[in-house]
Amino acid sequence: MRTDTKKNHKRTEKEIESLIRKMTLDEKISMIHAASLFRSGGVERLGIPGIETSDGPMGVREEFMSDRWIPAGNNDDRVSYLPSNSALASTWNPYRAYEIGKVLGAEARGRGKDVILAPGINIKRSPLCGRNFEYMSEDPKLTATLAVPFIKGIQDNDVAACVKHFAANVQETDRLMVDEKIDDRTLHEIYFPAFKAAVQEGHAYSVMGAYNKVNGYHCCENKQLLDKVLREEWGFDGAVISDWGGVHLTKEAAECSLDLEMSVFPDFDEYMLANPLKELIQKGEVSEEAVDAKVRNLLRMMFRLKMIGKEKADRKTGTYNTPDHRNMILRAAEESMILLKNERQALPLDAAKIKKLVVIGQNAVTIHSDGGGSAEIKALYEICPLMGLKCYLGGGTQVKYVKGYHVPEKPKTFDHNWQADSLDDLKDSTAGILVREEDVPENHRAQENERLAQLKREQEEVHEKNKALFAEAVEAAKDADAVIFVGGLNHYIDSEGADRVDMKLPYEQDMLIEELLKVRKDMIVTLVGGSPVEMPWRDKARAILWSYYAGMETGTAFAKILFGDINPSGKLAETFPDVYEDCVTAKNGQFGVWGSITLEEGLYCGYRYFDRQRITPAFCFGHGLSYTHFTYGGLTLKTEKSGEIKLSFTVKNAGKRVGAETAQVYVAPIGAKIDRPDKELKAYSKVELAPGKTRKVAVTLKREDFAYYDEDRHEFVTDPGDYEILVAASSADIRLKGIAPLA
Ligand code: BGC
Repeated sequence: MRTDTKKNHKRTEKEIESLIRKMTLDEKISMIHAASLFRSGGVERLGIPGIETSDGPMGVREEFMSDRWIPAGNNDDRVSYLPSNSALASTWNPYRAYEIGKVLGAEARGRGKDVILAPGINIKRSPLCGRNFEYMSEDPKLTATLAVPFIKGIQDNDVAACVKHFAANVQETDRLMVDEKIDDRTLHEIYFPAFKAAVQEGHAYSVMGAYNKVNGYHCCENKQLLDKVLREEWGFDGAVISDWGGVHLTKEAAECSLDLEMSVFPDFDEYMLANPLKELIQKGEVSEEAVDAKVRNLLRMMFRLKMIGKEKADRKTGTYNTPDHRNMILRAAEESMILLKNERQALPLDAAKIKKLVVIGQNAVTIHSDGGGSAEIKALYEICPLMGLKCYLGGGTQVKYVKGYHVPEKPKTFDHNWQADSLDDLKDSTAGILVREEDVPENHRAQENERLAQLKREQEEVHEKNKALFAEAVEAAKDADAVIFVGGLNHYIDSEGADRVDMKLPYEQDMLIEELLKVRKDMIVTLVGGSPVEMPWRDKARAILWSYYAGMETGTAFAKILFGDINPSGKLAETFPDVYEDCVTAKNGQFGVWGSITLEEGLYCGYRYFDRQRITPAFCFGHGLSYTHFTYGGLTLKTEKSGEIKLSFTVKNAGKRVGAETAQVYVAPIGAKIDRPDKELKAYSKVELAPGKTRKVAVTLKREDFAYYDEDRHEFVTDPGDYEILVAASSADIRLKGIAPLA
């Protein structure tokens, strides 16, 4: 975990101990809880500042008042709007992850922050989880390999990444109290690996404890998670920060490896790790040593960030809103968009042949950066798809925009914030009284009913208004050289605090698309969203382009791809099921319910489930087309003395355009003695090739790439035997196969 030299480390540890010895109990306690909504307490007398934190994963959030969830109203806190993690993961490019991390770190530092509350690396278990847009993938390997460079990028700026939410924060329903029952093997093979890599390879300086419970205990008071796994097994010596309001019990939180309590209420002295803790220490029920341990971890992080100590003067200063940042954001956006379907070479469009373009759909003009929950930001600007198209085409093309469908507006609240509201229930539990299980269902049913009633009212409003809008869109579509539909989701739907109710496109978009395709078979369908949607019309559409929330240059990248300046190279980092009913969480009902859920499916999350059940999704994990095509060949496999498997193969660009292909390597155990997924992603490589060119790709698989977690031995085990190695263009498009014998 240590990144500093042995000598420096020793010196720092000595300085930490000396500081702790000088502190009074009050001073120590002031350091381990919030002193304002996003800042911890410092000890001025000893030159120890408070720690400035900020959301979040898509850019540095706007400033809030120190004790109320009201924006400070500044005009200097606009920032670069980064691609969401779901977009970034679709690039399958660790270098892009590094660059975007670097932008985030520089902007955080530029805004005077010490800890940026990112990246979100929870595994996508159900396509309906409201926060999926903030997360990377359903696959632990892909998530881990992108999280590591992202963290390094952030921390290269002397800002700490706060990797969140540890662990298994897989649903928003009942997010503060839900108890997730997960077996050990599933935790170690699916929900832990990205966090382990973040700590051991990314050297993340901090980790955020999640809201939910895992196996009976809240994550911020969970000795198994924090003491045993994070500290003991993985050797983490950085700071564990609670999610905002994630601490419920003083003694438990004091005695486990949580270091800093943050929350949403302004009564900072009454936080669990403030006065209540002091009382327990004074009564002798908690030892002062427990507080010292927390202070030690926080100080260690502060030394690493050069907030204190001899290197203070060398601390990077950061910067925000630079042209360089915007370029990096554009490049990532360009690589993130996924061409799901392209028949009859419907795409790219030829700008020279289009005199009149009709663009239909609200996502052509929707601004997404200011929504989604704590990931919202105040963007310097956001180029929406319509603006991107207009900027690209210039004045020679007539671009007509029609709404197509109606989106009901949500009321904006000014005197209070959803974030404080969303934790209202917590008031009871932070007072030490855990909400009693038997009280819960009625409250929740009432809330759920209210939400569904609201949705119904909105649907009625939509239906009423859509009549005229549909007619207008169909008429407009008839009279154009090309038609582009830009629909999808928005942050009313992809949002923190609530899960989606279904996987359908909202606002009757399916009906509209069907109608439009009747009059325009050549209509290009593009969708912007943060999580998969059903596409019942997909056989009828010739071309479908998917974009996650891709940052401030979304519209620019979008136009460049549609008109062929950029050849799409994004691939899905998650399965797009045909219908929600095909998903494991729909089958076992263990998602989106209050109280507790059991992850009955175990390892069978995402493509692992679709593979095992032989269910064909609409678009599989790893899928993504290009304007060129690639052929694979020449697979060689060699077992090294060390037990590693070295493989190589070639990828050729067999088409006429420059393009990039992500070759994926899956391992499929043959005749395993315990139940194992049919195949699992273990490596990938993205190669850019000129037309006709061939590149040799070399991949090394380590013994641990063949391992499973043995629950009895409490460790990963690699059994000798034969393993099939699959080289693939997607999880369903296997191009080459070989057998690797492991001794
Ligand atoms: C979210 C975190 C976020 C924190 C601070 C919580 O509601 O779960 O992801 O970092 O608030 O805004």
